[in-house]
Amino acid sequence: MAKDPATIYTGKQLYEVHGIPWPYLRQLLISLSKEALIISTRGMCGGFILVKSKTDITLATLWTARPLKLTNELKFLLGGLLGFALAVPAGIMQADVRLNKILHNMQWVVGPHVHVAVLVGLTMTFYAAIYILFPILTNGAKLYSQKLANIHFWSQLIGGIGMGAFMGMAGPKGMLRRTLYFEGEFDLYMLLAHICGALLLIGFLAFFINIVMSVGLNGLAGLLKATKNRNKDLFPEAKGA
Ligand code: HEM
Ligand code: HEM
Repeated sequence: MAKDPATIYTGKQLYEVHGIPWPYLRQLLISLSKEALIISTRGMCGGFILVKSKTDITLATLWTARPLKLTNELKFLLGGLLGFALAVPAGIMQADVRLNKILHNMQWVVGPHVHVAVLVGLTMTFYAAIYILFPILTNGAKLYSQKLANIHFWSQLIGGIGMGAFMGMAGPKGMLRRTLYFEGEFDLYMLLAHICGALLLIGFLAFFINIVMSVGLNGLAGLLKATKNRNKDLFPEAKGA
């Protein structure tokens, strides 16, 4: 539709192009037409036509139309994007040769740059992939608790950004990286960074318990048991071969 906004597409054509199951596609089309993003016309040449140009449709437009559900995978993906949105500008700042003279070798580099990039940017994107793969890999197992998934999300997000931020605050105050301080100079920042680090641990435990409880203790033990199937059963010979 976005490729050729002036054309009227029938429901069948949209179904064939996107492969979305018809009942779900129908719901999507109803939500989109309620929000006046598409118009549906009836009759011989009836179908659906895009109202707004594709450049005017943003994530917020789709969100208000509600076809996007804030699932765990989407939440974690957005968290990951936020992580990169914070860590990349920190990297660009420290790549400036004049700022680098001050920031190089400071806690700043390992805080807002390295750990926000790896613990929020990379890790949360990775968790988004796990949440999307989980039902596929477990043959449709349901997540044990959405509350635990929420604890996981907020602990990872606040813990990761917080740890990086408090390490970063100690940097411009003079705290070098790879250096131990025994006079308590940066104790307050390090205590706060520790609390955020502990939050990361809580988040991971919530995730781990949730996954273990979702597959069940029997399911977990099953991973270690040898399969009763023989290789021959798993890869049956082609008929007539
Ligand atoms: C546009 C994006 C980025 C820019 C401009 C950038 C720039 C920099 C610069 C200038 C440094 C050296 C700072 C110094 O020691 O003085 C650095 C260090 C580092 N960056 Fe980035 N960075 C970017 C993205 C990333 C991403 C996405 C990651 C990880 C996922 C990352 C991981 C690291 C690590 C681990 C170090 C520290 C290496 C060490 O131990 O010295 N960077 N970055
Ligand atoms: C909760 C998890 C983590 C905690 C609490 C943590 C903590 C730390 C601390 C305290 C440092 C030393 C900072 C300094 O130089 O004074 C450090 C360095 C570093 N961390 Fe982490 N980290 C965590 C996870 C990770 C992960 C997941 C990665 C990468 C995927 C990573 C990559 C690095 C790197 C590249 C350095 C610099 C090492 C160096 O100076 O040679 N960290 N981390």
